Amino acid sequence: MIVQDITISQIKRSGFSINESGILEFDQCNLVELAKKYDTPCYIFSENIIRKKCREYVNAFSGRNVDFEILYAGKAFLVKAICSILKEEGLSLDVSSGGELYTALSAGFPPDKIFFHGNNKSQEEIEFAIKEKVGTMIVDSEYELDLVSKITESLNTKTGIILRVTPGIDTHTHQYIQTGQVDSKFGISIDRVPDFMKKVLSTKNIVYKGLHCHLGSQIFDLSPYVLAVREMVKLIRKIKDLGGIDTLKLNLGGGLGAKYTRSDSPPSIENFVNLIVNNVENEVRKNNLIIPKILVEPGRSIVAEAGITLYTIGTIKEIPRIRKYLIVDGGMADNPRPILYDAKYEAVLVNKINNPPKEMVTIGGKCCESGDILIKDLNLPSTSPGDLLLVFTTGAYHYSMSSNYNRLPRPAVVLVNQGKDNVMVKRETYTDIVRNDTIPEWFK
Ligand code: LLP
Repeated sequence: MIVQDITISQIKRSGFSINESGILEFDQCNLVELAKKYDTPCYIFSENIIRKKCREYVNAFSGRNVDFEILYAGKAFLVKAICSILKEEGLSLDVSSGGELYTALSAGFPPDKIFFHGNNKSQEEIEFAIKEKVGTMIVDSEYELDLVSKITESLNTKTGIILRVTPGIDTHTHQYIQTGQVDSKFGISIDRVPDFMKKVLSTKNIVYKGLHCHLGSQIFDLSPYVLAVREMVKLIRKIKDLGGIDTLKLNLGGGLGAKYTRSDSPPSIENFVNLIVNNVENEVRKNNLIIPKILVEPGRSIVAEAGITLYTIGTIKEIPRIRKYLIVDGGMADNPRPILYDAKYEAVLVNKINNPPKEMVTIGGKCCESGDILIKDLNLPSTSPGDLLLVFTTGAYHYSMSSNYNRLPRPAVVLVNQGKDNVMVKRETYTDIVRNDTIPEWFK
């Protein structure tokens, strides 16, 4: 029992428990049984954790005297079942492609609560969104403004827009996931916005609703948000001075970090929301403006810790005095984050949860690429082929960035909730793998 307690406290994760037979459970589901039922590799999401995170955002804002809207950033992980949860929790949705939009609409998500992002939306995507009466287009460039105007005109309708602004602020995260800095492919540079506004206001069939900025992702130090709010509110003032135009909505993007390893301690959702609201209130007061509706777009902080991946260990290779590799049945195809961002993870052996750590190992994937290493230097109990490995915090940007590299079928995605389990996405089959292959007719 003491050993179990140590293990649980080492894990320091919500949603986990150890049952009477010493088996690790997630949202009260026995993980050994789930691995048998759904096979591995397999993504598993706790419905309760997703809902809890949504409510943390809602409650944090509800405790303040402001108008607000929480947009879940679909790029983190979007499948139909997630749309149903978001709808029940009263969240809105940020989509960044026609595919995400189609997913949301086919799950019955209300179009007026959808915001359409993207720095190069195609004509077809814009037409699709406008025909489906998507609530807001987040306009990323002058080119796009013209395209949206042309399309709304030809469909004889109007659309609400929010302008994406690059506020020129650096965050201190991996450069690939920073987006608010001056040198960025996203948005309209903040200095150019006042001029650009003249065009926005004179463009037909467009209704100006507000401004947006997004700084980056996996942010732990919240000080860049203070700067962003200051710059964005100054911009709102300038726009007001130019033509008396009120900016009704201020969307400050997403970016709050998640806990991957035990050394990570991201700020709480409540602190993040309070910091944003306090700063908007202060800046608005200083600039003698009315307080806009505040929007945020969290993705990772809602789903990252709600998801885990289960793998089975196969080959074990020991290179004497150098390294011991445990190779799992997945890898960079289901988790490209280590090879892309050098992302760090923690893992435990589900079926040996009470065994004390014994050896330092490296978890390798099965893809034909030397860089396909999921975790370097992990302390585990002694392992044998067939052991079940659980990697924590794989809910955001894993399934959504997965690939069929080496023609590996994508894993199943399972939702668990207080002892119940059900599939959200079926495991791909070899038939799926060749579904879109065609043989050019001159080979026949
Ligand atoms: N809004 C916009 C405009 C975004 O570009 C993003 C993320 C979000 C909201 C949500 O940010 P979050 O709350 O999830 O940090 N693939 C990378 C992360 C890329 C983030 C892209 N944009 C990763 O795996 O770390």
